[in-house]
Amino acid sequence: MNIQIINGPNLNLLGVREKSIYGDSSFEHYLNDLRKHYANITINYYQSNVEGEIINKLHEVGFGGDGIVLNAGAYTHTSVAIGDAIAGIKTPVIEVHISNVYKREEFRHKSLLAANCRGVIAGFGLDSYRLAIESFLNG
Ligand code: DQA
Repeated sequence: MNIQIINGPNLNLLGVREKSIYGDSSFEHYLNDLRKHYANITINYYQSNVEGEIINKLHEVGFGGDGIVLNAGAYTHTSVAIGDAIAGIKTPVIEVHISNVYKREEFRHKSLLAANCRGVIAGFGLDSYRLAIESFLNG
């Protein structure tokens, strides 16, 4: 099984940024644990702060592999272009969020991506990524 994780803007600052919301672990540290936990799955990781680069990555990986776990950060709430990219590829995408976006500001309640995703997981901290992988494992 081959899973691609894509993180969007500001998620390179996990462990440093707004720790009360996003926790104090870096993504690299978490990813290490995730790869150990799923030793028989290939988990590829990509992060970019640039909208077009996220779209290019979706195009690159979106016709192979078994699933894409996407945390598009704030682009979730603004990007018609990332929503269109998800609609245009074949590999299923699960939208994830570390925080429960529905408990936060109203502008975070709207996703321009979700309608084109298999599902959405939000509010479980970094465990949101593992839950997304579990759902791919269950088909
Ligand atoms: C986030 C939620 C977004 O609203 C925010 O802009 C982020 C992170 C999350 O993982 O909780 O950057 O996607």
